[in-house]
Amino acid sequence: MAAPLAYLDHAATTPLRPEALDAMLPFLTEHFGNPSGSHAVSRAARAAVDEARVTVAEALGCDAGEVVFTGGGTEADNLALSGVVARRGGTVVCSAVEHHAVLHATAALGGRMVGVGPDGVIDLDALAAALDDTVSVVSVMLANNEVGVVQPLAEVARVMRRAAPDAVLHTDAVQAFPWLDVATLAGPAALVAVSAHKFGGPKGVGALAVRAGTEVEPLLHGGGQERDRRSGTHNVAGIVGMAAAMRATVTGMQATNARVGALRDRLADGLLAAVPGAVETGVRANRIAGCCHLRFPGIESEALLVLLDDAGLCASAGSACASGALEPSHVLAAMGVPRSEALASLRLSLGLTTTDDEVDLALKIIPEAVARLRACG
Ligand SMILES: Cc1ncc(COP(=O)(O)O)c(C=O)c1O
Repeated sequence: MAAPLAYLDHAATTPLRPEALDAMLPFLTEHFGNPSGSHAVSRAARAAVDEARVTVAEALGCDAGEVVFTGGGTEADNLALSGVVARRGGTVVCSAVEHHAVLHATAALGGRMVGVGPDGVIDLDALAAALDDTVSVVSVMLANNEVGVVQPLAEVARVMRRAAPDAVLHTDAVQAFPWLDVATLAGPAALVAVSAHKFGGPKGVGALAVRAGTEVEPLLHGGGQERDRRSGTHNVAGIVGMAAAMRATVTGMQATNARVGALRDRLADGLLAAVPGAVETGVRANRIAGCCHLRFPGIESEALLVLLDDAGLCASAGSACASGALEPSHVLAAMGVPRSEALASLRLSLGLTTTDDEVDLALKIIPEAVARLRACG
């Protein structure tokens, strides 16, 4: 596979940070121990997991004992929702724009969804109306994976205190972590999920912060690791890599936001100027810095993605192919975007490694590709 000329799909996954790789390598080679054992080889692995736990706790604004390492964001979300409902009964209420990890878990638990406004922000009146004493957990993401919209968790928590004071708040901070101060913004949440591969750590490892006073029934039963909240031998290298990526992300967050935010603005403004009829989804000011979401009426995003891929540009669309028919994204549908426009959308997600040259290339290739499709259509 030739390297792409422009990779603008960092929300799907972002390259491993060198700091993470360096931290991981010894735990894939000489420090191979199982951290649950009692001898010297095990102790070296356990010390690394303990140290990583402290780093993750600081980044999530909780105590080390409140961190549960998981096999990624999907597992962390499922542990949060299923875990609370299994312990306390009741049901789940989530926003209509959640990632499928939350949406499908909510459906499986018999829960319900609350709509959002045209700006993608949760409708707080609808939330209040959906809450009652049957609700044990409310799930609202910190930042959306398709359109990057940031949700007002403090206001969500205020509504919950009035309408369902016994319910706990879970936030999926998987897309938020590279960009936002999760320790502060997720403060109102009792449960916080993150996934390493979205911020320069490896795939298949994540964490759920479970604040004291909130109990979760484990999804996985076995050896009782993670204080009986998640059994299974620790992914030591993955956990160490996640912690290293977190440390580096937090250290560089301000500078990365400024640099990537400026690139994103140049990209979005350039495309809006170059493509007649292009529309930006949502409100840019309330969006994580790496996210650019545009619609190009008159084209189909699937066809656009093929042309872009041929030209060496990796991007994505919010739509998914279900049983042969192209389905518009549930996020855009919840925001009231007309179906035909939702099917004409493009998500360009930038990251730490995004360069000026990649943005220049996108500004050249995308208007040409849209013009070509419109000429054919
Ligand atoms: C908002 C959000 N939540 C959860 C997940 C799932 O995380 P993972 O890929 O680690 O299972 C993703 C991944 O795309 C996501 O964007």
